[in-house]
Amino acid sequence: MAGLFDIENRRYIGNKTKLNDWIIQTVKQYTNNVSSFCDIFSGTGTVAKHALPYFSTIIINDFLYSNRVIYGAFFEQGEFNMDKLHCLIDEFNTRDYKADNWFSLNYGNLYFDIGVARKAGAIRMQIENMKDELTYKEYCILLASLIYSLDRLANTVGHFESYIKKPIERKKLYVRLVNARSFDNVKIYREDANVLARQINADVVYIDPPYNSRQYSRFYHVYETLVKWDKPQLFGVARKPEPENMSEYCRSSAPSFFLDLIQHLNARYIVVSYNNTYNSHSKSSLNKITLEQIKSTLEMRGKTTILTHRYSAFNAGKTDLKNHQEYLFFTKIKNNIL
Ligand SMILES: C[S@@+](CC[C@H](N)C(=O)[O-])C[C@H]1O[C@@H](n2cnc3c(N)ncnc32)[C@H](O)[C@@H]1O
Repeated sequence: MAGLFDIENRRYIGNKTKLNDWIIQTVKQYTNNVSSFCDIFSGTGTVAKHALPYFSTIIINDFLYSNRVIYGAFFEQGEFNMDKLHCLIDEFNTRDYKADNWFSLNYGNLYFDIGVARKAGAIRMQIENMKDELTYKEYCILLASLIYSLDRLANTVGHFESYIKKPIERKKLYVRLVNARSFDNVKIYREDANVLARQINADVVYIDPPYNSRQYSRFYHVYETLVKWDKPQLFGVARKPEPENMSEYCRSSAPSFFLDLIQHLNARYIVVSYNNTYNSHSKSSLNKITLEQIKSTLEMRGKTTILTHRYSAFNAGKTDLKNHQEYLFFTKIKNNIL
């Protein structure tokens, strides 16, 4: 039997999976007496996962619904029964799903093979129907498992901005469980980062916002809809719902939102990831905040050091991003606000 999915086994634009060790080792090296860590634009959540062994409190935040249930599955404190979940998954995997449903009618033969879409929609309905028999943790585990299993079968280059316009290879959906754990020291939020900044405090706040015009809520709209299960009206060739959770960090207002965030953080250290994955074929890859703007904003709060690392980024297109530079800004706060 195939094993459980780990949190890293997911395609996600801009994920820091390959940089986690460098980021966390740098945090350890440059900080003193720290016990709490906040990953305020958490994405996949892998940076927070790597911070777990070194901090007694971890705060994880991202405004996407699909990320919220994934954190629920991998981190949230709660009861879950793996035998019960294995039985459910076995039942999902052995049943025949032939009828169409909302998911297959909207995404079948576009984002997924029709058989995969029918099965995914039927499983999603089953999870919703049995919600009363599941703990919240179990509900998150099943939804996260469905997302991770589907991710491998999507007819895309890694996100749902568009689908590949070629005949879809026949595939079979086989749901595997995620490697769920329960932590009593992890707090999870689904908040706008600028709002949350005013409500929390942490010794170290790690910041990895989007830097160009590509909106994550649009890239991952299929998973957002799958989790919300509100069966929205869909528009256009890419079958997207009405916009929700559109990030100011993807607009020209990004520098002022970054300034507002930095000004309101109650922290002892701020760590910011930055890279420039601009390629001349795509205007949408142009960064909204410059390196100089990041530096001057951070310097308002304290002495800022810039570290660099060479690495090859995950990017969905054909662009060659080998050897691009990854930056880590490290600020020791001298004038805390509170
Ligand atoms: C570059 S990704 C983070 C990647 C992450 N470090 C990882 O390793 O997977 C930026 C994340 O910020 C989230 N985001 C964008 N604007 C936000 C906002 N205003 N508040 C909260 N989350 C936001 C997006 O949904 C996305 O997951």
